[in-house]
Amino acid sequence: MNNFTFQNPTKLIFGRDTIAQLTTLLPTNIKIMLTFGGGSVKKNGVYNQVISALQNHNIIEFWGIEPNPKIETLRKAIELGKQENVDFIVAVGGGSTLDATKLIAAAINYDGDAWQLVVDPKNCKVQKAVPFGTVLTMPATGSEMNSGAVISSIETKEKYSYRGTYPQFSILDPQVTFSLPLYQIACGITDTFVHVMEQYLTVTNCSPLMDRWAEGILSTLIEIAPQIMENKNDYNLMASYMICATMGLNGFIAMGVPQDWATHYIGHELTALHGVTHGESLAIVLPALMTVLSQQKADKILQYGERIWGITQNGDNKALAIAQIIDKTENFFRSLGLKTRLNELNIGVDTINEIEKRFTQRKTVLGELENVDAQVTKAILECCL
Ligand code: NZQ
Ligand code: ZN
Repeated sequence: MNNFTFQNPTKLIFGRDTIAQLTTLLPTNIKIMLTFGGGSVKKNGVYNQVISALQNHNIIEFWGIEPNPKIETLRKAIELGKQENVDFIVAVGGGSTLDATKLIAAAINYDGDAWQLVVDPKNCKVQKAVPFGTVLTMPATGSEMNSGAVISSIETKEKYSYRGTYPQFSILDPQVTFSLPLYQIACGITDTFVHVMEQYLTVTNCSPLMDRWAEGILSTLIEIAPQIMENKNDYNLMASYMICATMGLNGFIAMGVPQDWATHYIGHELTALHGVTHGESLAIVLPALMTVLSQQKADKILQYGERIWGITQNGDNKALAIAQIIDKTENFFRSLGLKTRLNELNIGVDTINEIEKRFTQRKTVLGELENVDAQVTKAILECCL
């Protein structure tokens, strides 16, 4: 097991009718900016709950944060936050709104252009970020209890990770997820599944506890996913899904173990170039990555296959068992209604060549061994066709 430091300061407020707690979580003598996505919260009643909880507070609103939040939009929110001198932000929405808010919170107290914070953080001097809390409406990213964010640029067709600050609190009422379209739920379950895989599918015998926690989340997702696709208005099912998503990327399953993240970085390119929804990009890349790196990851794939899918190796035939395990994984994503091949999205060799070119220029190396370079990425993407 590797050395590690763990600290997660986010207060998690979970359960029915918890949005009302905003009233007492925030003092009335500060200026609060609310940040929103495209309007789903107006249809499902979340907006009304937030406004009613904050009726005696001093609030302003910023609307229009899109999926895969764009720097071009966030500059407007940052400008508003600076003009209005906001003391606190409450992000109300999915991972995109929460991620966007992490950058807005930092950039309000930064003099330069916010995109610099994303592409060149080491050379940017940021004062203390504005504190923020969240009301989560879509389980997937874990953004409600981590400091990460992913920000895109329309101008350059790029999508990069950004390290911000943690939410002070996050309110998770599973009832707000009932209005999610099935496609978003499929993408959210897949995103959660792949977050766990990125922190799990590396080496064996590093931390049996991290392995069991990760496997607990994977097995839970596999158990509840078909039931959720049948009945997304079941409170206990959606509550289980919601806590799986939070626990999948809040640092708890990452203590002292190596991490991969190649699937995510390759998926981000597909989103940057073609707007592929984040979860679906992962459903396409992960099975191919497992195939291309099957020798390197063989022991862990076999452990995963046996414990999660009940597939055991028949005699010496490791390769057959691994192929069956990868099939099971791909079929799980397909069972949710997602595409798992690039050609199903009309994405072909031009895009593969472009990503290879980008990774060569950036000298990208990914994965737990940092051996997933432009060439290996190309092989993985060719396996996705
Ligand atoms: O914008 P609105 O109108 O609110 O609609 C959203 C959006 O269209 C809708 N939605 C959200 N909650 C809803 C709802 N519709 C009905 N009922 C509800 N309760 O769903 C759509 C997708 O929302 P979005 O926030 O984009 O989804 P998600 O939570 O999957 O976030 C995706 C973003 O997070 C990044 C991704 O790259 C992507 O940019 N990620 C962030 C991570 C992190 N912070 O740690 C890690 C992840 O790996 C991921 O990369
Ligand atoms: Zn993700």
